[in-house]
Amino acid sequence: MKHVPLFYKQKPIFGIDIGHSTVKVVQVAQHKKQPQTIGYGYAEFDPDAIEDGVIVDPDAVKKSLRPLLENVVIGELTTDRVVASIPMVYIYSRIVELEGVEEADLSEAIELEAQQYVPLDSEEIYLDYMVLERTEEAKTRIFMVAAPKTIVDSYMALFTDLSLEVYGMEPSLLSIIRAINYTNEGETPKIAIDFGSQSSDLAIYDQSLRLTSTASAGGDHITECIMETLQVDREEAQRIKTRYGISKSEWQEQLAPALTPILTTLANEVQKMLRYHHERNDTEADIEQVVIVGGGANLPGLDNFISRLTGIPVSTSDPWENLNVKPLQPPHRLETTLYTTAVGLALRELER
Ligand SMILES: Nc1ncnc2c1ncn2[C@@H]1O[C@H](COP(=O)(O)OP(=O)(O)OP(=O)(O)O)[C@@H](O)[C@H]1O
Ligand SMILES: [Mg+2]
Repeated sequence: MKHVPLFYKQKPIFGIDIGHSTVKVVQVAQHKKQPQTIGYGYAEFDPDAIEDGVIVDPDAVKKSLRPLLENVVIGELTTDRVVASIPMVYIYSRIVELEGVEEADLSEAIELEAQQYVPLDSEEIYLDYMVLERTEEAKTRIFMVAAPKTIVDSYMALFTDLSLEVYGMEPSLLSIIRAINYTNEGETPKIAIDFGSQSSDLAIYDQSLRLTSTASAGGDHITECIMETLQVDREEAQRIKTRYGISKSEWQEQLAPALTPILTTLANEVQKMLRYHHERNDTEADIEQVVIVGGGANLPGLDNFISRLTGIPVSTSDPWENLNVKPLQPPHRLETTLYTTAVGLALRELER
């Protein structure tokens, strides 16, 4: 007898995070009490493949991504349906509070906001929004995003070429917050930092987003600064960075002052956000914690350093903490936070 699927089972999704020069994939599945990791992995590609967020050399990305999808991944990917992140630096995003706007009039109100704040023509962007909160005083807090079509279309073309079906795309900070909230309990507002390779994305969040910003401080700037200060090649600088960072070492006396300007850029942005939060929300709880994720979060000594500059406790957050990884081999200790965005994307599987 022919099998007819009367009970249509939704096809699962996996998360794909295309960064500056690496791509990470993660798939999780709902499994009894704790979600189970089905597969994960990352691959590097030539950083010139992406220009201003647009994948200009899709072949270079495909060369790394295809083998990763097919057999380099730890475990396996059991689906060809994907949810992807869009990097914050290249999109125009804003959290707006609208007062007394009816549901039916929201998109028109958002379009007016976009005309005011987005420096591109409406034909050049994809505009979307999500409602973060509705308050009793008829206020609606909205996260609006305008993504350049050139960027989104280049992603879509890549995925189509790899025979992947796109379930959705989202600004990377949403994935970050989902991943952090999955491991860290608590309702009080915190600041999240996604310390990437070329820049860092920041957010004030509690259960959802409150404020976002970007700082031009990334892990690659740190590598380059170490190369210059210690007169070493990139490989050696990378080794010193991941092994010693700005913690106690024979190089600390030289490295701490050299790296201070980069990390101060980041700390200043944190302080700007703290001030903003304090001025706007004098009735709400103060921010008492900074959580750092992203590949750069593992820099030894980073938490203490930023904590000293900002005056609030700083910690990292391991996105795997509440996920079952065994029997798969868990990610290397120094690579756990690299996957935060991809884990956050993969967790959308549990929301469906
Ligand atoms: N263990 C570690 N210690 C310090 N830095 C690290 C470590 N592991 C990775 N990094 C650095 O983290 C950066 C990459 O982080 P990540 O993968 O989050 O960035 P990305 O997503 O590719 O970049 P972006 O988000 O800026 O597009 C690189 O600068 C890398 O050298
Ligand atoms: Mg990133």
